[in-house]
Amino acid sequence: MAKISIVVPTYNERENLPALTARVHDSLSEYDYELIIVDDNSPDGTGLLAEELAQEKPTTIRVLHREGKLGLASAVIDGFEQAEGDILGVIDADLQHPPEQLPDLLQKIGGADIVIASRYIPGGGVEKWSLIREIVSRGAKLMPQFLFAKIRNVNDPLSGFFIFKRCIIEGIRLNPIGYKILLEILVKGRYHSVAEVPYVFRGRERGKSNLNSTEEINYLRHLYRLVKSEGESRRFIKYCLVGASGVFVNMGLLALLTEAIGLLYSFSAIIAIEASIINNFTWNELWTFRDRRTLNQGAFITRMAKFNLVSLLGMGINIGILHFFTEIGQIHYMVSEIFGIIAATIFNFIFNKWWTWQ
Ligand code: GDD
Ligand code: MN
Repeated sequence: MAKISIVVPTYNERENLPALTARVHDSLSEYDYELIIVDDNSPDGTGLLAEELAQEKPTTIRVLHREGKLGLASAVIDGFEQAEGDILGVIDADLQHPPEQLPDLLQKIGGADIVIASRYIPGGGVEKWSLIREIVSRGAKLMPQFLFAKIRNVNDPLSGFFIFKRCIIEGIRLNPIGYKILLEILVKGRYHSVAEVPYVFRGRERGKSNLNSTEEINYLRHLYRLVKSEGESRRFIKYCLVGASGVFVNMGLLALLTEAIGLLYSFSAIIAIEASIINNFTWNELWTFRDRRTLNQGAFITRMAKFNLVSLLGMGINIGILHFFTEIGQIHYMVSEIFGIIAATIFNFIFNKWWTWQ
């Protein structure tokens, strides 16, 4: 049977650690496992307590001490580096992740490369969360689901409770900031299948959460870093350049049709807009999304139709924001329009990437 290494990051978890180690031990007694506690020199003395627990079970518990609070994700990665198992996993020390469910996760690891304890599938959920926190959490997970095609079907990519086969991260540099180590593995790892097992994220009974607003900023920084590592920021720059070329086509044609041919300017504008959409589509097809092109003709027409539809939606967003900022925000309409253009560009990019050139 494959050896299992479970990493437990701790920061001020003195009150929770004994129960955690006992409950993990009960649920994994049939398995060959080790528990790696990674403590960041917790002021409450968690590190010392961890050593005592390790002395009671020297073959299963190991402790890694780091000099100070260096962050959850990096603690987990340091734990992985020390791990001996072929199956690696993470569980929080504060008992919000029920250790009794480790066997449920392990049962599925045969058929999957990653098994996630998920709050967002039937049977899963959260206890004692305010509506606001639930909305924020659900909103937060939509961003990576939009940005990374690989994880679109993963229901809880931000879970902190999961296991996976070590080989999927072999040779890959994990470099997350903040809390979301699973996201890093899902985006960078080499795996075929992901399974999810429902669980209820329990309320915290002892100690307090380390999560604060810095972590929300860190989350955005982490997403940005992942997008960059995927080469997606270059794609976005190309997309913006193509958009700029469309502005020239649009204005050039508007002037040409109106002045030289004598069409009514609002009629010229319709042709100019559609011409710029076709211009943008063509460049995006040949350049921005070249790697995602499929060569059959039907697909080409479908993509063109989708691109037109996304452009229309983007225009709606642009006008909506222009109107909202100007009328309700009392901002000068030219300034509002800048926000409108930025929002529509980002929306169009993400949507085209996610849908048109999926
Ligand atoms: N070593 C170390 N260093 N451990 C840390 C640090 C740190 O800087 N910050 C937090 N921890 C430990 C805590 O002691 C706890 O065991 C675990 O990491 C989770 O920290 P909490 O502060 O309790 O986080 P949370 O409850 O808000 O969020 C958790 O649950 C989410 C939902 O599953 C985390 O696991 C998230 O990653 C997860 O998304
Ligand atoms: Mn917690």
